Amino acid sequence: MKIAVIGAGLIGRKHIDLVSNAGWLSAIVDPDPAAKILAETCGVNWFHTVQDCFESDIPDGAIIATPNQLHVQHGLDCVNSGVPVLIEKPIADLSAAATALVRAADDKGVPILVGHHRRHNPLIKAAKSAIENGQLGDIVAVHAQFWLYKPNDYFSVQWRSQKGGGPVFINLIHDIDLLRHLCGEVISLQAMESNGARGFEVEDTAVILMRFENGALGTVTVSDSVVAPWSWELTSGENPAYSKTPMSCYKIGGSQASLALPDMSMWKHEGERSWWAPIEQGSSPFMQADPLEIQLQHFKEVIEGNTSPLVSGHEGVQTLRVVEAIKLAAASGETQHL
Ligand SMILES: NC(=O)c1ccc[n+]([C@@H]2O[C@H](COP(=O)([O-])OP(=O)(O)OC[C@H]3O[C@@H](n4cnc5c(N)ncnc54)[C@H](O)[C@@H]3O)[C@@H](O)[C@H]2O)c1
Repeated sequence: MKIAVIGAGLIGRKHIDLVSNAGWLSAIVDPDPAAKILAETCGVNWFHTVQDCFESDIPDGAIIATPNQLHVQHGLDCVNSGVPVLIEKPIADLSAAATALVRAADDKGVPILVGHHRRHNPLIKAAKSAIENGQLGDIVAVHAQFWLYKPNDYFSVQWRSQKGGGPVFINLIHDIDLLRHLCGEVISLQAMESNGARGFEVEDTAVILMRFENGALGTVTVSDSVVAPWSWELTSGENPAYSKTPMSCYKIGGSQASLALPDMSMWKHEGERSWWAPIEQGSSPFMQADPLEIQLQHFKEVIEGNTSPLVSGHEGVQTLRVVEAIKLAAASGETQHL
C-alpha cells in the first residue's frame, strides 16, 4: 500500500504519522521547506506539486490536507490520475466546484472519501444505533454547540481568517455533518453571524436555526472566541492535544428520551412521561478509539475496493451545501431552503 500525503500542515502531519506508522507512506507533497525535512525524517520522497509526485510514481491512494481553497484542484489531480483520495473536510470551499469534482470521480470510477472522521468514532456509531433502534422515540429538538477559544497564533496562517476559512467552514462543518448523520437531512435554516470579537473578514461567532426533514428543530451556535468547554474538541477526548472536560456539546431530544453527546447520557422517565415524574440518567457503553486511525483503515479498504466510502463525495457536498446555506442566510437575513 502506497499513500501520498498532500499538505503537511496541522492535520497533514497527523495523517503522515498515522500512514507512516502503518508503513504505507510513499511521499509528501508540500512546497514548504519544513515538509522536505519531514519527508527526510520519514524516509520518503518530497515533492513540490502533485504532478511531480505522480510523474515519479503513482500511489495507490492520496490524502489531501491542503487549505480548503485547494481541495478541488488537488482532488482533480488525483481523480484524473485514477488515484483514490481521502479529502479533508470541507470537500471544497464551494459546493458547485465540489459537485464537478464528485461528477468527475463518478465518471472515472475513482472513490472519494471525505475526512468527516467523527463518523468513524465508535461513540457516534453507538449514538446512531440508539437513535435508529428507536430509543429516543421521534427526534423533536436538537441543540449543538462549538464554543472554545483559539489562541491568536492559530490565525498567523492567513487562509484561516479569509473567505473560505472561518469557524463555520473549518469547525462547524464537522458538527453539521454529525447532525445530518444522526438526525437526518436539514431542509431549511436561518442564521446570524458576527466578526465582532476578532474583526476578521470571516465570522468568529454564528447562531443557526434549523428544520430537519423529519420535522425536528435544531439550534446550533459556533464561536472560536469564547472561553468555554462546550465543543466536541474539548469534550470527546478524540484528540489528546485538547484537554478533555466532562461536559457534553450536543443534546438530541426525543419523544421517549434525550441523549447527550459525547458523554452518551440518556435521560428518560422510568414510568409515565411527565415533568412530575422522576427522570433518570442512563448511559450506553462504547469503545474509545481514535477515529482518524479507524478512518485510515477504512480508506485502505476503500482503496482495495472492499468497501465504499462511509462519507462519500456526495455526502461531503451535501454537508458543504448546508454550511454554504448558513453563510447565505447570515449574509441575506433570509431563510434558506435546501
Ligand atoms: N479533520 C480534522 O479534524 C481537521 C483538522 C484540521 C484541519 N482540517 C482540514 O485540513 C485542511 C488543512 O488544514 P490545516 O489546519 O492542516 O492547514 P495548514 O495551513 O496547517 O496546512 C496546510 C498545508 O498545505 C500546504 N500547501 C499549501 N499549498 C500547497 C500546495 N499547492 N500543494 C501542497 N501543499 C500545499 C501548506 O504548506 C501547509 O503545510 C483544511 O481543509 C482543514 O479544514 C481537518
